[in-house]
Amino acid sequence: MSTNDFKEQVLIGIPSELPAEKPFDSSLNHAPKRKDILNKEEKKLAIRNALRYFDKKHHAVLSKEFAAELKEYGRIYMYRFRPDYKIYSRHINDYPHQSKQAAAIMLMLQNNLDNAVAQHPHELITYGGNGAVFQNWAQYLLVMKYLAEMTDEQTLVMYSGHPMGLFPSHKDAPRVVITNGMMIPNYSKPDDWEKFNALGVTQYGQMTAGSYMYIGPQGIVHGTTITVMNAARKISKSEDDRRGKLFVTCGLGGMSGAQPKAGKISGLVSVVAEINPKAVKTRHSQGWVDEVFEDLTTLMERIKKAQGLKEPISLAYQGNVVDLWERLVKEEMKVDIGTDQTSLHNPWAGGYYPAGISFEESNEMIAKDPAKFKVEVQKTLVRHANAVNQQAAKGMYFFDYGNAFLLEASRAGADIVNKDGTFKFKSYVQDILGPMCFDYGFGPFRWVCSSCDPKDLATTDKLALHVLEEMYTTAPEEIKQQLSDNIVWIKDAMQNNLVVGSQARILYADSEARVKIAEAFNHAIKSGELSAPVILGRDHHDVSGTDSPYRETSNIYDGSSFTADMAVQNFVGDGFRGATWISLHNGGGVGWGEVINGGFGMVLDGTSDSDRRLKSMLFWDVNNGIARRGWARNEEALFAIKREMARTPELRVTLPNLVDENLLENLF
Ligand SMILES: NC(=O)c1ccc[n+]([C@@H]2O[C@H](COP(=O)([O-])OP(=O)(O)OC[C@H]3O[C@@H](n4cnc5c(N)ncnc54)[C@H](O)[C@@H]3O)[C@@H](O)[C@H]2O)c1
Repeated sequence: MSTNDFKEQVLIGIPSELPAEKPFDSSLNHAPKRKDILNKEEKKLAIRNALRYFDKKHHAVLSKEFAAELKEYGRIYMYRFRPDYKIYSRHINDYPHQSKQAAAIMLMLQNNLDNAVAQHPHELITYGGNGAVFQNWAQYLLVMKYLAEMTDEQTLVMYSGHPMGLFPSHKDAPRVVITNGMMIPNYSKPDDWEKFNALGVTQYGQMTAGSYMYIGPQGIVHGTTITVMNAARKISKSEDDRRGKLFVTCGLGGMSGAQPKAGKISGLVSVVAEINPKAVKTRHSQGWVDEVFEDLTTLMERIKKAQGLKEPISLAYQGNVVDLWERLVKEEMKVDIGTDQTSLHNPWAGGYYPAGISFEESNEMIAKDPAKFKVEVQKTLVRHANAVNQQAAKGMYFFDYGNAFLLEASRAGADIVNKDGTFKFKSYVQDILGPMCFDYGFGPFRWVCSSCDPKDLATTDKLALHVLEEMYTTAPEEIKQQLSDNIVWIKDAMQNNLVVGSQARILYADSEARVKIAEAFNHAIKSGELSAPVILGRDHHDVSGTDSPYRETSNIYDGSSFTADMAVQNFVGDGFRGATWISLHNGGGVGWGEVINGGFGMVLDGTSDSDRRLKSMLFWDVNNGIARRGWARNEEALFAIKREMARTPELRVTLPNLVDENLLENLF
């Protein structure tokens, strides 16, 4: 389809005549059938809600069609309204627009729904099994039209995928304000998501899915490499000694698929279990997994050979992870580093598959007998934890990978809770990312070149490298390792060929680096060294963006990890400091009701307005979290916030007075 035809299609929005029905494309990965949770009256309400998007003359046809979708898939996706054009990130100028900022947002949301990027593209799910960009295709069509027509004096208001409309605002206001899954707190249990999502009134935005900031697996390769490499440094400081150590985990999905690559970069022999053959095939064909095994005996032999040769290699086991763990225990093969990245934030709807039941049977059971499915998942979790415990007793370093493994295993009754109620194992944030990165302000900063030109991406890499190298020369010891890991990353990034979808790059940077890199980009856009605007953003999984007691804020020990003030303050503060779009979500990595998280996008166009906004917003977006982490008495954050106050006289943060612990000893 030509660019002009594409533009015309976008401007049509929801067509006035019904498009032809679309055949179900079984070559793609589809969302599992969702739970049949609505009663008869609620089902009518779901249909009534869905029909709000369409002219009355179509209601007779569409009501039957939507009822059939609800029965067949548990949700109304409105498949018929999928556009005929290919969805992928195009050059910013190829989007019909009145506002460049809005065109950049279209690029980003199309990237989230690209067949090569999204997990279940036809169900508008980007990753994590239920991380939705929209609830249905009518919302997509409407949003694209609004974005194409809006000006820099308007703001698009998004309620969980539904565009409430364009409201007058001003040029410094965000162009889009997104909320996803915001619930009255008492209605935030997993079944509430099932019910209210089926009714079409809310959605699970995950983190970067519902905020249009997903950049494919690269986003997570970097964070995963940092995590796995530092986990390996925990078992041995010597690179040579680490080579050939055994790393076992699960999941080759949207995020988890980065694990084998990270394991290999860290010099380990990594074995990743994955039950879904399509996910195995995808990661194998992309070269992220070296070899695939369906038979455990052959796999065990291959592991021994690789360890003997100290050969960094990534192996996949196509099957249930519990079978893998139990076999390793039986063979008395020691695992050195272990974790798990199944989607346990979503345990009852396909995030975690029970052992002894095939993938297909499990998917059927989810819809037909959810109660039995839950029992099977919990039995498997107990076995899973038992095998992990046996390996840990032999010295394995195990960490929770932010997927609610320990939380759900404890709820299933597994033996992983200490007497004082804490878990037997630490999370990757408590042990690694928190103290080494977040508390110093280092987090997953990212950018996308809106020209879609790899040459621009190479230029941005060069500019970012220059900033980091210059910072390194005067950096304090405390952050030298972080800077040098990122210098290596950005030097190798182009040849590691990590781009899937938009021309994007991720880099763990602190407040100073983020601002300096953004300034360099803005300058290069102005001078013409970069051919088009650059879009900045970050994962919500960052210093300040996420309040999540079992993940991002699991290393906050003053009791405030169950509060969500930081994430909400961040969203609001980014909004009035110049973000192009902002989002606030209930639910993310660890589950609906378990986390509040937010993010932003910011378009740099080479103007002095961009320069003003980037300085103000990026500074706040990082230092808000450092101030909070410092107030929670985290030593590294106290160091970072004092350093920032010395650099920035207008910043005045309340600092904690530390108590002599002996004083508290005999009080009660
Ligand atoms: N560590 C991080 O930085 C980080 C970041 C984001 C998310 N996460 C969390 O990690 C989890 C995974 O994310 P994802 O995007 O990869 O999800 P995903 O659903 O795409 O992938 C999980 C994979 O696990 C497989 N699986 C589930 N149960 C299995 C079993 N018993 N045996 C074998 N395979 C099994 C599934 O088939 C699926 O492919 C999520 O909970 C996510 O929130 C972690």
